[in-house]
Amino acid sequence: MSDRRIEAHSMTNSEEETIALGRSLGESLCGGEIILISGDLGAGKTRLVQGIAQGLGTDDNPRSPTFVLVNRHIGRLVLHHCDLYRLNSVAEVGELGLLELAEQGDVLAVEWSDRGEGVFPSDSLSVRMERGAEDNNRSISFAGGGPVSLRLVNAMNLVAKR
Ligand SMILES: Nc1ncnc2c1ncn2[C@@H]1O[C@H](COP(=O)(O)OP(=O)(O)O)[C@@H](O)[C@H]1O
Ligand SMILES: [Mg+2]
Repeated sequence: MSDRRIEAHSMTNSEEETIALGRSLGESLCGGEIILISGDLGAGKTRLVQGIAQGLGTDDNPRSPTFVLVNRHIGRLVLHHCDLYRLNSVAEVGELGLLELAEQGDVLAVEWSDRGEGVFPSDSLSVRMERGAEDNNRSISFAGGGPVSLRLVNAMNLVAKR
């Protein structure tokens, strides 16, 4: 994400706040968007996806996919939730056929998206999650690479809280 301008930044102080942030993102989705989420283990990536699923009106509660690489949740739109942690090469990521899912109008939320560097289109929403000073602080940065992802950043109406 280093070559992208950070468009919005938020700090959450509990998992509920991160889920709420995800929910507002989920409510803004129209279909076809790709959300790339990076950050260490425990950064809160799956919590954010749980919020996105809520915002799309699914009854499911996404968990980190373990045995399968992609989980599907059906709400107002179809959400494909993937975790690339266990993949070893960018070629493997390409073989998952994720882009086709977005092209057909589904939403893609990708944890450990840095494992698939170069596979995803530039107009994806990049979300970078990091631990903050306190145990429950998370710093969450959003960057858009084109009109679709920038619209999302704006729709979320984030106020920079530092
Ligand atoms: N502000 C916060 N946002 C998200 N999770 C938080 C926050 N503060 C503490 N946590 C905890 O951090 C963990 C995040 O887990 P998870 O979402 O599975 O992370 P990841 O998918 O990045 O590995 C959970 O145990 C959650 O309770
Ligand atoms: Mg996870």
